[in-house]
Amino acid sequence: MKTPARTTVTAALPYANGPLHIGHIAGAYLPADIYVRSMRARGREVLFICGSDEHGAAITLRALKEGTTPQAIVDKYHAIIAKAFADLGIAFDIYHRTSSELHRQTSQDFFLQLHANGAFTEQTEEQYYDTQAKQFLADRYITGTCPKCGNPGAYGDQCEKCGSALSPKELIDPKSTLTGTTPELRPTRHWYLPMERSQEWMTQWINTGLLDGAPQHDPAEWKPQVLGQCNSWLKEGLRPRAMTRDLDWGVPVPLPGADGKVLYVWLDAPIGYISATKQWAADHGTDWEKWWKADDTRLLHFIGKDNIVFHAIIFPILLKQHGGFILPQNVPANEFLNLEGQKLSTSRNWAVWAHEYLERWPGRQDELRYALATILPEFRDSEFTWKDFQDKNNNELVAIVGNFVQRVFVLCNKYYDGKVPEPAPPNAQQDVQDTLLWAELAGLPAKVAADIDKFRFRDALLHAMNVGRLGNKYLTDTEPWKLEKSDPDRVRTVLFNGLRITAALAVVLEPFMPFTAEKIRRMLNVGPLKWADALREGLIVPGAVIGKPEHLFKPIGDAEIAAEVERLKAHAPTGAAEAAGSAEPVAGTKPLIQFDDFAKLDLRVGTIREAEKVPKADKLLKLSIDIGEERPRTVLSGIAQHFTPEELPGRQVVLVTNLVPRKMRGVESQGMVLMAEDAGGRLRFVQPTEAMPPGSEVR
Ligand code: MF3
Ligand code: ZN
Repeated sequence: MKTPARTTVTAALPYANGPLHIGHIAGAYLPADIYVRSMRARGREVLFICGSDEHGAAITLRALKEGTTPQAIVDKYHAIIAKAFADLGIAFDIYHRTSSELHRQTSQDFFLQLHANGAFTEQTEEQYYDTQAKQFLADRYITGTCPKCGNPGAYGDQCEKCGSALSPKELIDPKSTLTGTTPELRPTRHWYLPMERSQEWMTQWINTGLLDGAPQHDPAEWKPQVLGQCNSWLKEGLRPRAMTRDLDWGVPVPLPGADGKVLYVWLDAPIGYISATKQWAADHGTDWEKWWKADDTRLLHFIGKDNIVFHAIIFPILLKQHGGFILPQNVPANEFLNLEGQKLSTSRNWAVWAHEYLERWPGRQDELRYALATILPEFRDSEFTWKDFQDKNNNELVAIVGNFVQRVFVLCNKYYDGKVPEPAPPNAQQDVQDTLLWAELAGLPAKVAADIDKFRFRDALLHAMNVGRLGNKYLTDTEPWKLEKSDPDRVRTVLFNGLRITAALAVVLEPFMPFTAEKIRRMLNVGPLKWADALREGLIVPGAVIGKPEHLFKPIGDAEIAAEVERLKAHAPTGAAEAAGSAEPVAGTKPLIQFDDFAKLDLRVGTIREAEKVPKADKLLKLSIDIGEERPRTVLSGIAQHFTPEELPGRQVVLVTNLVPRKMRGVESQGMVLMAEDAGGRLRFVQPTEAMPPGSEVR
């Protein structure tokens, strides 16, 4: 691997179909911004790219819902999103749009090059067509009953109740959301990316970092959950995926005979990173290509976990098939952020919206950035609560950073008329405290940077805050306010050191809290600082004029927090009480239940006697399970992609036996098999550690 000369950082292009919430911020944008700011402070060449994703069914559906045009939707939300980013201090070099002319041109050229390279196959397949609306239906335009969990409101691409990925043909009783009619299957021709052709090099690239025989990245630097998701995809076998769609909104397919067809949004959107780079370069009269083509450029995609395969598998295949482009060196994806015990949900309005937060907490951007940075879902899902927001503000920002800086500035203003004091010449006995202080501080900026480089932003922030903690402790230990009469020399030294620690704080906190860092710099009367300035001698000059003490943070009261929680509940359409019950609860945060609730379940050990595939349902297996009753139970289970029917007979499982029976595919399912599922979607049976007689109770 070459030492990177420059880094191209992208953050997922948000769909311009709604505002941003804190889950988006914590998923991709805040970590990317912290990373980029720290690179810039260290003088690294870095370009930070983002923009609105303005195509696809996400947009047209929203237009349908709001009774307006897709163009009106993207114009509206692009403005709201761009403003929220700017207000939050997410410092992109460019925030572009995929509806731009430059993007249309760029993605069409990209498509044509792929086409010329023979990267596509053309296939005609049956897809649902709404005869009344006279159009083919995108997956999201079809609803029906989920074949896995029976949810009657599942979409053609996914069931939001059980989280299963679906295809429209799997839905039971499909309906068009446009007209409510039953759609019919009609043949339509599309350009497919035969991803199976890339199975081999992709598997090797992901897992060894080797690309065409040369090391391109170090897989040990990739997050385990990113590797896990990629590998579970690779294990299922890469398959052809359509790169075009029948839709009247998007980038037109630039080929003859492709009227009414547009590029698949997941083809055009990541190319949006490239067109945004071109626009930025044009605006600055510079070259775009080195950011995407030079092999000493490091490309990083910051995303949320629902975007992993698109960035780590599909886009790299497209880039390689096109030729001339580098591939990402890492895809530091975050898991999901939950809110007050439930999944964030746009449709249920269970969210803290960025633009609304900024209105209700004006000037408090860093308080949100800080609270989110301490709980980033870096390796597993995490949770935002307003109470935690309050605690982090009061116990950490106010009590550590605010308190320290305040004390230093108040005392310097009081004793030295707002000037930097001259430290006394070193004095062996008193300086033990100082020697210790510098010894402890010395390593911190490097630790912060090292953790940022490893995408461990939470740990990095802990180290940064330790600068403030050490500063506070130093003041508490030296008690300069008691010594002014008896030992003014010592006080001058202590407060001079206090100012130096303050400067260090401004440096190490800047990636996380740029607004606060700027306030501190203003108080210190210094200009922009580099990372190397953190503990640099000579930065703080005796006699220099400093500013008045400003309150960096204000305590947040219980009433303010209660109001936020109330607001959240009141705005969720189902109302507070129901929201708690009907929501999709998350691990460890389901509401408490009584023992009686649990006791309602009839759980039994069963032994699978027979297993077979269910025709026309590629996820379902029909199981015959012996639970000691006269006849075995018939159970339909959505495990066909995880187990073959042959490997199941004889296996013991735990069955919920008193669920209301449900008919699927004409078969009545008389129970539910308990499965454990990991974050990568891997399913395993829950079973007794030793064989038990069928019918044994589980309690
Ligand atoms: N719009 C997508 C989402 O919100 C992300 C697109 S990322 C890009 O999930 F690669 F397409 F740009
Ligand atoms: Zn489902």
